[in-house]
Amino acid sequence: MVALCGLIVGSSTQEEQLRSGGPGNASYDYVVIGGGTAGLALASRLSASASVAVIEAGGIYEQDNGNQSIVPYYGLTMPFLATTEDYPRQPLMDWGLLSTPQPSAGNRRIHYAQGKTLGGSSAINTMAYHRGTIGSYQRWADLVGDQSYTFDKILPYFKRSCTLTPPNLQKRNAPNATVLYDPSAFDNSLNGPLQVSWGNWVDPTQSWLARALQAIGQTLNPSGFSSGKVSGGAWVPSTIDPKDATRSSSESSYLRSVLEKKKAGITVHLHSQATKILFNDDKKATGVAVSTEGRGYVISAKKEVILSAGVFHSPQLLMLSGIGPAATLSAYSIGILSDLPGVGQNLWDQIFFNVLRGISVPNTGTYLATPAQQAVALQQYFSNAAGPYSSAGGYLSFEKLPPKSLAGLSSRTASLLSQFPSDWPEIEYIASGFPSGIANLTTIGAISATLLTPLSRGNVTIRSASISDPPVIDLGWLSDAADGETFVAAFKRVREAWNSPVIANITVGPEIVPGDSVFSDADILAFIRQSAQPIWHASSTCAMGKAGEKGAVVDTKARVFGVKGLRVVDNSITPLSVPGHPQSTVYMLAEKIAEDILKGR
Ligand SMILES: Cc1cc2nc3c(=O)[nH]c(=O)nc-3n(C[C@H](O)[C@H](O)[C@H](O)COP(=O)(O)OP(=O)(O)OC[C@H]3O[C@@H](n4cnc5c(N)ncnc54)[C@H](O)[C@@H]3O)c2cc1C
Ligand SMILES: *[C@@H]1O[C@H](CO)[C@@H](O)[C@H](O)[C@H]1NC(C)=O
Ligand SMILES: *[C@@H]1O[C@H](CO)[C@@H](O)[C@H](O)[C@H]1NC(C)=O
Ligand SMILES: *[C@@H]1O[C@H](CO)[C@@H](O)[C@H](O)[C@H]1NC(C)=O
Ligand SMILES: *[C@@H]1O[C@H](CO)[C@@H](O)[C@H](O)[C@H]1NC(C)=O
Ligand SMILES: *[C@@H]1O[C@H](CO)[C@@H](O)[C@H](O)[C@H]1NC(C)=O
Ligand SMILES: *[C@@H]1O[C@H](CO)[C@@H](O)[C@H](O)[C@H]1NC(C)=O
Repeated sequence: MVALCGLIVGSSTQEEQLRSGGPGNASYDYVVIGGGTAGLALASRLSASASVAVIEAGGIYEQDNGNQSIVPYYGLTMPFLATTEDYPRQPLMDWGLLSTPQPSAGNRRIHYAQGKTLGGSSAINTMAYHRGTIGSYQRWADLVGDQSYTFDKILPYFKRSCTLTPPNLQKRNAPNATVLYDPSAFDNSLNGPLQVSWGNWVDPTQSWLARALQAIGQTLNPSGFSSGKVSGGAWVPSTIDPKDATRSSSESSYLRSVLEKKKAGITVHLHSQATKILFNDDKKATGVAVSTEGRGYVISAKKEVILSAGVFHSPQLLMLSGIGPAATLSAYSIGILSDLPGVGQNLWDQIFFNVLRGISVPNTGTYLATPAQQAVALQQYFSNAAGPYSSAGGYLSFEKLPPKSLAGLSSRTASLLSQFPSDWPEIEYIASGFPSGIANLTTIGAISATLLTPLSRGNVTIRSASISDPPVIDLGWLSDAADGETFVAAFKRVREAWNSPVIANITVGPEIVPGDSVFSDADILAFIRQSAQPIWHASSTCAMGKAGEKGAVVDTKARVFGVKGLRVVDNSITPLSVPGHPQSTVYMLAEKIAEDILKGR
């Protein structure tokens, strides 16, 4: 048991002890709102030379979610990640956010999971690790007018955030799932806290469907996806600690590594919701109003307040505190500190659909179908950090749609797509599967396509002046016709992969979803509107930008325009949704802004 500054790790009385950092006025150099992915990375760095309080609405996931958030395989199957309105609730872990009905997506209200726990969404995500493209970060740098955001310049922050363990080929036992990567994109001498490694298990279904994607032109990328090139296929690493094959979250990596140093100046307030950011007459943030189980108090910031409440709650808290579109604030009688129309706007969201077919090879779930199989797998997991439980997935495949796909697009859509940087893929394909439950059919295979160039934009706003009402989230899905068109082209690519001769021996029967009767462009689009799902990469609702520019909320050092002493650091400040999976970029941002703060910038 380690007891430090209010947070006790490894004790059954954890929760109780944490309240020693609990209700009551107090004062710290920095107050971080949200102990999530960015929040804990940033707080850990600042704590090296300052006192830091972290205000987190949730608890400790290792206690509240059993092994579900620890064992990699469960990361793919947690029930509360379901996106339908009737999803199984897990209020100890998830905010339970529902979107407004989406008119261009079957009028569905989408359950959009977001981690409400120490570690935030890094405690519930599917752990894929890779970075964006050189062109996407160049676009970011150009949009915000700061060339310190180019890939070359941010690479040091990616490097210092993580430690990469090369694949263990013996445990992995899959010569047909070759890992290619560029070791120079990592630097283990920096002892980055986040653990990044390859699963000690390969899902046979994925290895087969990967072949199909390769056969339609998405060949293996020789450098993996962490050195600025994101095209073709790769077995990507995951945020898994290879020592015992457990999830590496911002809590299990950053926070714990700081607490272990025993000098940590970090105090975590659990089950504590920030209700408002407080300012003095000079519009300088002086602290945060906090509520812990109904008890209100103030945590003061001697230096700065840092808001890291995530893509939906950071804009909400800004608005509740008087920063946002003037009309919205006035509508709820909130005094206006800074009229920033961009707060809550510019929501980018990557969404996907699946095409399902029966296949005759097993998937990971097949190996865990019976108690006897689970016993074997548990043995492999606990004695060797290997086997089906030890891995979260792995094969990703990206492409710029080929000319024959683009030829079918309207000139408007083609023109909009051509405005993305030349190395920014339109589509990411992911292969997966699940046991079929049908007697003579081993597995149902899934090939999904995710749209990485969404032109639809959503928004986030408030419904009252109180934190107790959740934010109003309009995802804007498929509201721009270009997205539907691009998706129809991607759907045809997915069918092409399914029909590839290299997997002819393993496909069984006709297409299950949506089925061969869905054939015309109109029917394909209707299927996509009904079935699209979030891949949980929402971003950009407090966008970084140039001072005075419409839509800009923070400057390139993450300082909120119009007030002092307040930064926002999380996935809400990226001005665009970097193609692919965002967690690496969130950690990079936390490292970059922490350095700015520590250097007095
Ligand atoms: C299910 C899922 C799967 C994903 N899979 C992947 C993947 O495989 N790879 C990848 O790269 N990315 C993935 N992502 C995306 C990635 O995890 C997120 O983009 C990233 O974690 C966001 O970090 P953040 O710091 O912006 O927010 P979060 O990590 O969500 O942190 C926000 C924190 O603020 C707290 N909070 C909010 N409001 C308040 C308040 N008022 N008071 C106190 N605390 C508050 C929350 O409880 C939370 O802890 C996934 C996300 C999800 C949800
Ligand atoms: C806590 O701080 C608030 C605001 O500064 C103040 O009104 C209140 O009296 C303080 N409470 C205690 C117990 O000191
Ligand atoms: C996870 O916990 C459940 C319930 O306690 C248990 O049945 C299962 O074996 C555990 N799985 C692993 C991989 O530890
Ligand atoms: C790859 O090897 C694994 C383990 O031997 C096997 O289960 C799987 O079917 C193979 N996949 C392909 C595409 O050959
Ligand atoms: C959000 O977007 C929708 C659709 O464009 C629009 O009707 C609505 O007014 C927007 N809401 C806010 C708060 O911007
Ligand atoms: C399909 O299986 C047959 C018989 O096992 C084999 O001869 C053939 O090469 C296989 N085809 C492919 C494309 O793998
Ligand atoms: C399963 O078996 C039944 C009876 O043999 C057969 O009619 C059916 O086509 C089979 N299904 C598949 C997917 O092979």
